[in-house]
Amino acid sequence: MSSRYRAGIVGASGYTGLELVKLIHRHPHLELGWLTGERTAGQTLSQVHPGPWDLPLIPLEEAYARAGQVDAVFLCLPHGASMAAVQRFHRAGLLVIDLSADFRLPDPALYTRWYGVQHTAPELLAQARYGLCELFRETLRGSRLIAVPGCYPTSVNLGLYPLARAGWLGDPVIVDAKSGISGAGRKVQLRYHFVEANENIAPYSPGRRHRHIAEMELVLNRANGPVERRFLFTPHLLPVSRGILSTMYVRVPPDVDESAIWALYRERYAGEPFIHLLPPGQLPSLAHTVHTNRCAIGLIPVDPGPAPGTEYVVAASIDNLLKGASGQAIQCFNIAVGLDETAGLL
Ligand SMILES: NC(=O)c1ccc[n+]([C@@H]2O[C@H](COP(=O)([O-])OP(=O)(O)OC[C@H]3O[C@@H](n4cnc5c(N)ncnc54)[C@H](OP(=O)(O)O)[C@@H]3O)[C@@H](O)[C@H]2O)c1
Repeated sequence: MSSRYRAGIVGASGYTGLELVKLIHRHPHLELGWLTGERTAGQTLSQVHPGPWDLPLIPLEEAYARAGQVDAVFLCLPHGASMAAVQRFHRAGLLVIDLSADFRLPDPALYTRWYGVQHTAPELLAQARYGLCELFRETLRGSRLIAVPGCYPTSVNLGLYPLARAGWLGDPVIVDAKSGISGAGRKVQLRYHFVEANENIAPYSPGRRHRHIAEMELVLNRANGPVERRFLFTPHLLPVSRGILSTMYVRVPPDVDESAIWALYRERYAGEPFIHLLPPGQLPSLAHTVHTNRCAIGLIPVDPGPAPGTEYVVAASIDNLLKGASGQAIQCFNIAVGLDETAGLL
């Protein structure tokens, strides 16, 4: 590949697709090739999203025929719909970056368990790299198939990895998470209507029902040898357009003090351009990260006072559409082709 690349976007009419259009438009080494829509095919992007995007949306079948016109493809399709498309573009020799869950988990049995589907391209799972850049950067270099992590797991895994890696993350981990409504995509459903969602906050898939738990187990329960740690995870729908805040309750071993925990986080994330460690005593809000590719992390003992004990609150915030999806997808692309990781993202 040259140092200037062309990218196609499958599902450009959706929320993550639109973010990719904007990011690629200002990326110094990337330019837009074709864009696809499904129901919106035949329209221009500016007819679907207000803005200066007078770009045609073509059907997916036409994109297959025009695969040779681009170097890379970003897939922004619903779960399940990506399996066949990834297979086709991978076979056509493109660098494939998939934002759905279809290639995030290594074992076909996990798709049956968490997504209730039979994987139709299991032979590709071993080649797919999990695109959590700060943790798995080395495995992404030169990769041809990258699965961009889910939005909630990005916040939880970045927030807790240093503890898990050190063997200091107790069992269970309790996660109380909140997401803006764009996290559900552009689909029409009653609970996302303004009157239902505005001035309201509602839990969904509480406990151990949400499928993103699979990615937390995958990353954190293997960070320091296999562990059967339980994640009790309750997400909530927040009446804002974008942003995720995950608040996590954890227990560390009795001989570990707060300064040792901070040393661990500072060492792990030293020099990371997209990790913002807040000063001790502060926790992040959505405002720390929305419209950025950053993850802000804060940590505080549960008990105030001189003897903090073993329980801590760790909180992490991200923009679900950027660090939780399209920004991280660009970061993965930059690493895969050997560009400066921050290109187009600062
Ligand atoms: N939203 C987030 O914050 C977020 C974060 C992380 C990961 N993700 C994942 O990223 C993917 C895209 O999410 P999104 O929020 O952008 O979704 P979205 O807004 O619902 O957009 C979906 C896109 O896929 C197209 N599409 C739907 N079904 C299709 C099919 N069968 N064949 C071809 N095209 C089809 C749609 O076209 P039309 O518009 O023409 O119907 C649209 O362009 C999902 O897998 C999602 O889980 C999303």
